[in-house]
Amino acid sequence: MAPRTTTARPIFVVAGIGAGAGTGASAARLFAANGFRVAIIARGADRAEKLASEINTSGGEAAGFGTSDYTYKSILAVWDTIKSYKWPSTQESAPIRVALWNTGDPLFKGFLDVSEQDLNLSLEGSVQGPFAFARQAVLTFRENEVDDKGKRGTLLFTGATASTRGNTWTSAVAAGKFGLRALSQSLAKEFGKENIHVAHAIIDGGILTERRTVDQTDGSKDPRDTLLHPDSIASAYLYLANQDRSAWTWELDLRPAHEKW
Ligand SMILES: *[C@@H]1O[C@H](CO)[C@@H](O)[C@H](O)[C@H]1NC(C)=O
Ligand SMILES: *[C@@H]1O[C@H](CO)[C@@H](O)[C@H](O)[C@H]1NC(C)=O
Repeated sequence: MAPRTTTARPIFVVAGIGAGAGTGASAARLFAANGFRVAIIARGADRAEKLASEINTSGGEAAGFGTSDYTYKSILAVWDTIKSYKWPSTQESAPIRVALWNTGDPLFKGFLDVSEQDLNLSLEGSVQGPFAFARQAVLTFRENEVDDKGKRGTLLFTGATASTRGNTWTSAVAAGKFGLRALSQSLAKEFGKENIHVAHAIIDGGILTERRTVDQTDGSKDPRDTLLHPDSIASAYLYLANQDRSAWTWELDLRPAHEKW
């Protein structure tokens, strides 16, 4: 029998794709185009399935994994489902090499309007869920051999302006996002020595999606001057995943050219 020379395509796990037009979806498409199988976690199986079949149709390979919420328990469970999933195109198991936590609920409101449910949602999406996600990612990466970049895996987190700065309408969001950033820094320090790369990206500005398109007040403006394009954020994530262990980033901040900051 000829020696087996094929290497199974690595898996990219992404949690949080919004309506399918933002950062998570762009990252799913870009990693698929760069040779990754993509496991998509979303609140709502249909959204995950819709993006997975779109990626399938355009020549990639993706599968959707719905979850009802981002509680600790649910995220542990959905990750187990991904690990035992049999990818149809191959009998080989493939390593999970990159994982991205990209959720965020738009809970922007004054402090006295923040309900207990808002607080729960923020902490679920930015603290509880990511703790479970990171636990599963670290345990999974530990089983990997180091790759040609000297890494066992890359764990990425999407942050926001509110990751480092509170504001009049961000008490709920900032409480969660500060927590997420603290988690990512702690993990980067604890697991760097195991060649696990943890990075946090501060997305400092509005993102260009279907909901938020060209600045209506000035049709001549190129929206990329004032809004981050999700495909451009995705390129930065691919760059982080491709960094080697000798010079890698913990924190990246990204903003459009005309952002006031
Ligand atoms: C994607 O394609 C695979 C075959 O490679 C198929 O088994 C799977 O059901 C497809 N998934 C979706 C969501 O279309
Ligand atoms: C918020 O979470 C706490 C702790 O899990 C729970 O006891 C409480 O019922 C939740 N509140 C709402 C409004 O969902």
